Amino acid sequence: MNNGDLKFPEGFLWGASTSAHQVEGGNTNNWSEWEKKNAVRLARQAEKRYSHLSVWEDIKSQAQDPQNYISGKAADHFHRFRDDFALAKDMNHNAARFSIEWSRIEPEEGVFNETVISHYADVLHFLQALGIEPFVTLWHWPVPVWVSKKGGWTKGETTDYFLRYVERVAGAFKNSVHFWAILNEPLIYSALSFLKGEWPPQQNSVNNYFKVVSHLAEAQHRAYRIIKEISPASSVGSTQILAYFEAYENTAWNRSLKRISDHFQYRFLEKTKHAHDFIGLDYYFHNRIRGWWGRNENRYRSDMGWELYPEGIYYVLRDITKRFKKPIYITEHGLADGEDTLRAWYIRESLHHVHRAIQEGSDVRGYLHWSLLDNFEWDKGFWPRFGLLEVDYKTFERRMRPSAHFYADICKENAITPEILEKHKDLFIGF
Ligand code: BGC
Repeated sequence: MNNGDLKFPEGFLWGASTSAHQVEGGNTNNWSEWEKKNAVRLARQAEKRYSHLSVWEDIKSQAQDPQNYISGKAADHFHRFRDDFALAKDMNHNAARFSIEWSRIEPEEGVFNETVISHYADVLHFLQALGIEPFVTLWHWPVPVWVSKKGGWTKGETTDYFLRYVERVAGAFKNSVHFWAILNEPLIYSALSFLKGEWPPQQNSVNNYFKVVSHLAEAQHRAYRIIKEISPASSVGSTQILAYFEAYENTAWNRSLKRISDHFQYRFLEKTKHAHDFIGLDYYFHNRIRGWWGRNENRYRSDMGWELYPEGIYYVLRDITKRFKKPIYITEHGLADGEDTLRAWYIRESLHHVHRAIQEGSDVRGYLHWSLLDNFEWDKGFWPRFGLLEVDYKTFERRMRPSAHFYADICKENAITPEILEKHKDLFIGF
């Protein structure tokens, strides 16, 4: 429990994140093609996958409807970005992470769409006018259809195609973007798409998994050099999902399982560490190792059944600081919480632990909540609600969730104060 007064470092970035495919709407890429082929299957499997969740009764009809699995118009952010970022400004955000969609920029091999490039230029100008710092992701998972037809990231040439796109985008926006995240969570994508066979192209191939990881690592190295050549003063990295593996009671056995887990999750970063000016941390998971993995207490869970364990972020920040000694931006952190009963508590507690890590020497320079608005959650579709802004998918209206007001006050004060906690005390009843 934290009672305030937690002041954050001057110039701290406060905001929220999105990704193109999840919010823009109207995308045509390998993922949208896969959705059309798999929507009926995913709807049929919903009961098996989700009926154990506490929200099952509420989400059942949506989760069993094939339309739920088609991104379609998503939140129509492509056309409504002005309204969305104006709301971010109202919520006192001074930073916004979003991704540029490769398949829109280069819908056919070597053909760059100037109208789309000027669309993203408009987005950047708009953010600049609002005084919101853009944090731009260059690849957040889907690839253009022509790339996937040639084998996607399993092929070395995809790295070359990607670099050509990166060069084009970095050149076009060199005067308006300081923060670049080249890749979003390369290891999660590689594992779920090429090893576990859950996401497109649904492969179960150890061989392809390693190929994809190595092509993405090469993309990180080379894209880093390209961007730094174009804008030497920019800050370039990527975002990584990093879990807190807890060696329960610090026993030798639990510690060795933790070491193995950490070895795998940090491998990509270790291999590419010279191609990151900062570490972008996406924190969602805690894994208590007590003889074996996954012995979590699960006191609080999100709508998706993920355990909410705020202090985990403290340990991950400590670990990253020790390993890499670089500035850290928390580029994602959040939860599916349609009723908004846990979000404010989760933000409050997690920021308490972020603050503690900063006090102890972690160079954390920003926090970007996932997500600015409700979005399309990949193979799960629209029912998980991650937004600070609630989206009505019929009217596309946005509404600030109560926790968003709480977070807005923190952003404004650059602090959690007793006054803020008092003002929003109704959000914490029962915690
Ligand atoms: C991804 C997001 C996703 C979020 C919640 C992150 O791993 O980058 O795209 O929506 O997790 O599942």
